Amino acid sequence: MATGRSSSNSMALALLVLAASAASLLPAASLSVTSPYVRPAPRPDALSLLQDDDDDDDGQTPQQVHISVVGPDKMRVTWITDDDAPAIVEYGTTSGQYPLSATGNTTTYSYVLYKSGNIHDAVIGPLKPNTTYYYRCSSNPKREFSFRTPPATLPFKFVIVGDFGQTGWTESTLKHIAAADYDMLLLPGDLSYADFIQPRWDSYGRLVDPLASARPWMVTEGNHEIEKLPLVETEPFKAYNARWRMPYDAGASPSGDNLYYSFDVAGGAVHVIMLGSYTDYDTGSAQHSWLRRDLAAVDRGRTAFVVALVHAPWYNSNRAHQGEGDAMRDAMEALLYGVRVDAVFAGHVHAYERFARVYAGKEDPCGPVYVTIGDGGNREGLADKYIDPQPAISAFREASFGHGRLEVVNATHALWTWHRNDDDEAVVADQVWITSLAASPACHRSKSKM
Ligand SMILES: *[C@@H]1O[C@H](CO)[C@@H](O)[C@H](O)[C@H]1NC(C)=O
Ligand SMILES: *[C@@H]1O[C@H](CO)[C@@H](O)[C@H](O)[C@H]1NC(C)=O
Ligand SMILES: *[C@@H]1O[C@H](CO)[C@@H](O)[C@H](O)[C@H]1NC(C)=O
Ligand SMILES: [Fe+2]
Repeated sequence: MATGRSSSNSMALALLVLAASAASLLPAASLSVTSPYVRPAPRPDALSLLQDDDDDDDGQTPQQVHISVVGPDKMRVTWITDDDAPAIVEYGTTSGQYPLSATGNTTTYSYVLYKSGNIHDAVIGPLKPNTTYYYRCSSNPKREFSFRTPPATLPFKFVIVGDFGQTGWTESTLKHIAAADYDMLLLPGDLSYADFIQPRWDSYGRLVDPLASARPWMVTEGNHEIEKLPLVETEPFKAYNARWRMPYDAGASPSGDNLYYSFDVAGGAVHVIMLGSYTDYDTGSAQHSWLRRDLAAVDRGRTAFVVALVHAPWYNSNRAHQGEGDAMRDAMEALLYGVRVDAVFAGHVHAYERFARVYAGKEDPCGPVYVTIGDGGNREGLADKYIDPQPAISAFREASFGHGRLEVVNATHALWTWHRNDDDEAVVADQVWITSLAASPACHRSKSKM
């Protein structure tokens, strides 16, 4: 039985690799593939991976450290201590020596009976690009951290994955991410799956700390971040906004709201737009006005790639969450199309799906490539029911955990690769070149009327 299944799996895999490489050579939607891969059952320990904080005996040891870019050459360091500690980050380019420092702010929040630790953040810089810095937090000698700043030119390597949670699957995904180098991680929502139980935000923070303290992790919110409780906790995103502050007040078009923002990387060669699926997006909303402003400032003569992230997918042939992104798509799709956004990455659906270039429901050579990458590994499991037949605009779909990588190699070419999380091994199961629409004479037009 077991042998039979594994040999049919490897045959399926061979077919899949063939199909995937064919898909990258042909115009995107000429082939619709539903992967025949069948996942093994989860391991017994897969559903719970709560991380203790028993190393923090003195209440002063920094934990849950993560970093995020602020403008072209600064970094925000965020960390938590159980007890009072100074919001200072000391840093330098040699391990053990911290000639530079910056002091920031400390905040706390309460949620029903839970009271958070001290959440500190400080912005350091200016920093040199593509350089390793060593740092410590709250002047605490117990933990030294290091990160590498992103490069100021192409090539630039993103990891993209949503709907993480904190399970054995998440652990496996994190291990695969750590196994190959990257410059920045983009997360299209649903981080901890704390789901109102606040200590789970802390255990999630500890789980991702080894990676998130070493490379910038840029996030936007999903539905699991809302955490509103009728009458008791009426302010949405309380934990998320306190713990995952993003650079909404920096850059060329500050949004003024942590739920949506944008930034440039690689010296402006790539513009990244983090949209908010769970705050107003209709015409006349603050987010809609900000997006128009943000896109109006994009100069495609200078910006080789524009990518956007949302939580609820605008295109989706999985039966899970059908239609949930439609209203946002109707409100914003034309704006993205106007500046020829190259790709849109979504989470929410716990599976992988890649579409052709699409606009207004149809294949369109000047529309974005849509990708659903909500497959980080959370405890709700996979979404494995699809609409049949597979729509022609859907190029490849598979219900597995995994992560994606977008390597922008130069001003015209970016390589998108999906790594299936095959428990112990990361297997490349889908790969396609995405070419810049700014470099496409047929799609290029000067600033659109918006
Ligand atoms: C501390 O927070 C205040 C209010 O949000 C802000 O104006 C100030 O710039 C922050 N200071 C630092 C050093 O980050
Ligand atoms: C970053 O630095 C490494 C090692 O010094 C070098 O090999 C790489 O080319 C640099 N990347 C960029 C984009 O400058
Ligand atoms: C950009 O990268 C692609 C893929 O590696 C390559 O075919 C192309 O020649 C490169 N363009 C330039 C200008 O180097
Ligand atoms: Fe979600």
